[in-house]
This record gives sequence, structure tokens and C-alpha cells, in this order.
Amino acid sequence: MCGIVGYAGPRRATPILLEGLKRLEYRGYDSAGIAVGQAGGEAPGSQTGRGGRLAVVKKTGKIAALRSEVPPELPGSWGIGHTRWATHGGVTDANAHPHLDASGKIAVVHNGIVENYRSLRSMLEKEGVRFASETDSEVIPHLVAKYYSGDLEAAVKEAIARLEGTYAVAVIHADEPGRIVGARNGGPLVVGVGDGEMFLASDVNAMIAHTKEVVYLSDGELVVLDPEGFRTTDRQDRPVAKKVDQVSWEAGAIEKGDFACYMEKEIFEQPESIDRALGGRLEADSATAKLGGLNLDRRQLRQVGRVRVIAAGTSWHAGLVGAQLLESLARIPAGAELASELRYRNPVVERDSLWFAVSQSGETADTLYAMREIQRKGGTVLGVCNVVGSTVARESDGGIYVHSGPEIAVASTKAFTSQLAAFYLFTLLMARMRDLSQADGARFAEALAGVPAKVEETLRCRGAVQAAAKKYARATDFLFLGRGLMYPIALEGALKLKEISYVHAEGYAAGEIKHGPIALVSPETPSVFLVPDDALREKTISNMREIKARGGPVIAVGVEGDDEVAAIADDFIPTPRMDPRFYPFTMVVPLQLFAYFTALELGRDVDQPRNLAKSVTVE
Ligand code: AGP
Repeated sequence: MCGIVGYAGPRRATPILLEGLKRLEYRGYDSAGIAVGQAGGEAPGSQTGRGGRLAVVKKTGKIAALRSEVPPELPGSWGIGHTRWATHGGVTDANAHPHLDASGKIAVVHNGIVENYRSLRSMLEKEGVRFASETDSEVIPHLVAKYYSGDLEAAVKEAIARLEGTYAVAVIHADEPGRIVGARNGGPLVVGVGDGEMFLASDVNAMIAHTKEVVYLSDGELVVLDPEGFRTTDRQDRPVAKKVDQVSWEAGAIEKGDFACYMEKEIFEQPESIDRALGGRLEADSATAKLGGLNLDRRQLRQVGRVRVIAAGTSWHAGLVGAQLLESLARIPAGAELASELRYRNPVVERDSLWFAVSQSGETADTLYAMREIQRKGGTVLGVCNVVGSTVARESDGGIYVHSGPEIAVASTKAFTSQLAAFYLFTLLMARMRDLSQADGARFAEALAGVPAKVEETLRCRGAVQAAAKKYARATDFLFLGRGLMYPIALEGALKLKEISYVHAEGYAAGEIKHGPIALVSPETPSVFLVPDDALREKTISNMREIKARGGPVIAVGVEGDDEVAAIADDFIPTPRMDPRFYPFTMVVPLQLFAYFTALELGRDVDQPRNLAKSVTVE
């Protein structure tokens, strides 16, 4: 899960590549590099040879570290860049991309894993090739060089035909000015169409400042671009006509604005992002939901006997909430499981099951491969995605876009609440086709439409959460506990804290703690309880008392005016009172803020936590 960027046009490539890499930094941030083609002139760091030359700069660390290494005014009007999340080989300058062939004239950036790199490397070494890095990716420039005889496109085709695994690649040759050859097989790649200039990147964020016209490549496609345009071919070398899509959001959507970091911005954007997810999808007259992208008519939906959700991380938590809701309201058996587990256990795909693949990025390898396995077995899989044109969105049989807008912080926040919105809409649709009356449906729809305002109110807890985070920031272990719909929210709260503050946290069903985790309770181990005023409130309060009786500090996220809960807890975070079915939207917000403020207290890099990346395109 690395980020790729490419530019060919009349402007100086370096600033465009560096800016694009900055936008892609969320995909991986342990090292970065650029290779810029120079049709003439000398430049520091250039690899010389006949004809043109390549200036190559690579550096461990973030884009800022690379930027400080790049000579000012580095000339060259075409080039490629890469931000890395290490898989094969440590984090070193040598292992950073771009990788070069022996002549230094061919440069390659790669996202993905070359599974047969060992055999390719030993074959190339026997032919006398000397490798400069420990990466799997470096076999690619050497293969391209092996097949190069004056035509980069032909050589790249030969090279990628020998690769097993996943890739998105971009390749340049010093002697082919202005040309970039890209290919994808399992890693995202998007072409940006400018006015007399062309872009290539892992996602549109890298090019949105320059063009809103984009072309999403599919697996097996190869693209050749130069300042005048692009052409695509498939694996059989047949031309592929591609549709040019228009990106719907503005470059400003990926700016931080007045916020200290993207995560904070994205938490506070949730009233609007949930509103966008619901936008135009609630039908007041018939008290149901309209979801045009499902590609299933009412008769087909009526025949669904079971709903099964596959996802990873935060998206899985959204699926757990969705499954509970579908069972309780639409009375359809439903469950959510980890895509990484499902894929390898030969799942039973019943005839009447409807599957959902939930993924913010739409590129998560575990989710994508599990989805393909289910489709192979004849199952229908709908995608719940944020990124338009992503692989899950394109390969699923239909689905629901959640319209959160670009989510940049590695920790998912606004995408989660928008995924919830998608499941609430789908549940309403299914429930109204079954037992839910018009009157009950109308009440549900009204409460759902009111969620953005409730989340807005919830955000006022910022000060109280910040104080709690400050108080407990030195604790090394936390428990997050909830029942029913609050159980997945407890899991989500623990995941948020772990990933951005590096503090150990366990999410548990509150009723389950007496079966083991209660042994962890001590004055040093705070428990965060989720206590809505739902049917399980009394049971949850009993669990709180069990923790208090053993000397454990309790932070309760509860409902405003709940004096009983406030009196038991050491710290009480009130959230607005609402229809209990909708508390997942609001009660997750203090947990997102708690993780955020704890990470700040501990001096962590909130948007780019260690060892992580935004989209996990490796298994
Ligand atoms: C969320 O905060 C995490 N960064 C992570 O668990 C994420 O939700 C998971 O990797 C799945 O990503 P996806 O939604 O893009 O598929």
C-alpha cells in the first residue's frame, strides 16, 4: 500500500510530483522518492547516459524529508514519484522507490507485491544483473530493461506478463521524453486528463488541484500517456475505450482548514458527511429509503433470506452494527465477519444470502479478495464504499456510496458514521418490505433524518472529553465496554485509541467481562462504558458497579440527565437523548475525540500513526 504519482506536460514536474506525493502520504509514509526525466541539461543526482537522463532522489522519512533533498529548480517535465509502506526490505534509502535498471535509464514505481520476485531475481542475477535493494519491486525495472529495444510500452508489457501478484506500476525511460507507461493488476491507478498535460496516480487526491477529469483503470489494463493524451490496452493488447469521469468534490475538501490535523477536521465534519450519506435517499411519503445503486428490484430484495457483511477494521464495526439492526428491525438473519478470515475458510454461499463488502477505500485487499471468492461461488455482493471508482465499487454487483468526501487521516471517523447511515437506510428499506408499518417506518425515517443535528450537539462534549483524555493519558491499558448496539462501538473506541495513541485497549461486550477480562481491572486500568438509555441500561449499570467494586476507574459515555450513571462513574460524558436505535452515531463521537486527545497528549502523529497506512492493499 504505497502511493504512486506521475506527471507529463509542459510544467516542471518536480513540484507537481512532490505535491501529489504529499496528498498520497496517507497511503504510506516511511520513505519516498521521485525520478524526473530530463531531455537535456545536467542536474545534481542525474543518471547519465545516451539521449535523455533521469534525476532520481530517494529518502527515508516523510515527504518533507524528500523535499529537503530535492535540488531547488530541478529541471525536467515528466516524471514519477512514490511514497512507500515497507513490505519487502527495511526502511532504507536504497529500498525506497523509484527503482532503476542497471543503466539508470529506466525508473519504476510500484504499489503491491511481486509474489514470484525470488525466482525472477535469481533468474536475473544469473544473467549478471546486480540488485541495489532488498525489495520485490526492483525486479521490474530489470525485467523492463531485459525486454527493451526502443519501445517502452512493449517492454513493460513483456515485463508485467512475468509478474505474479498485485501491482500498480508507473515506468519511464530517459530516452522516451514525456512518456509514462502505467499498468494495474490489483492496485489502484487513475489517469488525470489535463489541458496539454497528463497525470497518473493511485488516487484522485494527488491530481485534484490540477484536473477534475479522471479515468479509472481496471485490472489488466495498461496505459501509455504523454502531454497530448493517453491510450489504454487490455492484456490481449486490444485497445480499451475508457470513460472520462468528473470528480465531484473540490480541492478544498482535502485541505485541513483551521483544524490542527485531518482527524480532528473529519470528526467535526460528521454532521455534514452523515447528511450527505442520507441526502435524497429518505422517502417521506412512503416512509422508506431509496437506494438506486443496489441493482436489485423489490422482488429480488424480498427474496433475500440472510444478509452477510464482510469487511476489515472500522468498516467491520459498521457492519456489526448494520447486522444487528437488520435482524432487530427488518427481521432478517444477519452477521458481519472479518474478510481476512472468511476468505480462507471456504465459506458457504447460500442461494438466498445477500452480501455486503464494506470498505472506505474500496481497495482493502482482504475485503476485495473475499468479495471475489463469494462472487466466484455465485453470491451477490453489494459494496458500501466511500471512494468513487474504487475496485470494490467497480467489481461489486451494486451498492451504496457513502459520500463522506475524502477521508485523509488514517484513523477512520466520518466514513464510519456514513457507513452506519448506509446500513440504516438499507435496514429501513428492507424492514418496510417486511413487517415495519408505515407509521413506524415514518418514525424511524424522521429519527434518521435528525441524526446530523444530534451529532452536531454531541460534538459539544469536546471539552469534557479533552479533560478526561488529559486525566487518563498515562494509563497503559483501557477497557471499552458496551452491550447490544454499543458492543461494536466499544470495539471501535478501542481500535481508535490503539491505532493513534499506541495505548493498549480492549473492546468487550460488557456482559462478557466477568468471563475473564475483569481480572485486568485495577486502579490503573480505566474502563470506558457506553450507557445509552436503551433496554440494556440496567444490565450495563450492573457491569459498571462490578468494575467500581474492584477499584477500576470508570468513564461513562451516557445520556444527558442520567444522574444515576453520572453518580457511579468517575467521569461522565453526556450525549443528547434520542431514539435508542440511533445511539451508535452519537456515542462513537466521544470515543473518536478521546483517542484524538489522548494521542495529542502523548505527542503522537495523529494523522499518520506508526506502522499503519490508510488503505491496506496487501493481505
Ligand atoms: C480504521 O481507523 C483503520 N485505519 C482500519 O481499521 C480500516 O478501517 C481498515 O483497514 C479497513 O479499511 P477500508 O474501510 O478502507 O476497507
